[in-house]
Amino acid sequence: MKLDNATIASCLRSAATALAVLFLIAWTEQVVSHPVHRSPPLKDPKTHQAVREMSQHAQRKELEEDTSIRLMPRAGADQNHMEICCLHANILNFYLNNILHKYSDEHPSMHQLKTDLHRVSEDLQDQGCNLTHYHNHRHTVEFRRKLEKMEGVRGINKAVGEIDILFTYLHDYCEAPKPFANATNGADNDN
Ligand SMILES: *[C@@H]1O[C@H](CO)[C@@H](O)[C@H](O)[C@H]1NC(C)=O
Ligand SMILES: *[C@@H]1O[C@H](CO)[C@@H](O)[C@H](O)[C@H]1NC(C)=O
Repeated sequence: MKLDNATIASCLRSAATALAVLFLIAWTEQVVSHPVHRSPPLKDPKTHQAVREMSQHAQRKELEEDTSIRLMPRAGADQNHMEICCLHANILNFYLNNILHKYSDEHPSMHQLKTDLHRVSEDLQDQGCNLTHYHNHRHTVEFRRKLEKMEGVRGINKAVGEIDILFTYLHDYCEAPKPFANATNGADNDN
């Protein structure tokens, strides 16, 4: 094949355009879809993986008639991010105190996952989630009521099966406020 200059120039132009688009995508992802999270394990792919495995493991034990039940509350459109974050931090705390240790013998990764989620819980409380404040919220009350009705192992399996939903809420709603971008104090911002 014979390449004339025009063809080469056109190829280079396409390549440059493609490269620019790639840079733009990478930059946009940095800025838009990777908010700063309030706790490191929330953005750690290893934690994501462990959560996914754990919930699939528990879902396989679920009774047929329980598959249509959902314990985890759905976020209301009227709630702000911090509220949804802290409400689910309250539920996470309930998991840490009442559920996860009962599943420790079922899955070898539970010990590590519990440690990581404990860290998340502490970080969220350090950053202003008052867990007590959400204890009597209708969503957390409803969650505990449904769980209680399922009784024993059945409820534990159901709750662990939904740990991916819980984690997704924490991941999506517990992002830290955007770093301030004041031109005047921008120089102080690079830590
Ligand atoms: C947390 O919430 C509870 C219940 O609303 C309240 O009594 C308590 O004072 C709050 N604690 C802090 C540190 O704000
Ligand atoms: C950003 O600038 C505004 C106006 O000067 C100021 O009120 C605000 O406190 C600044 N924010 C930070 C984080 O410094």
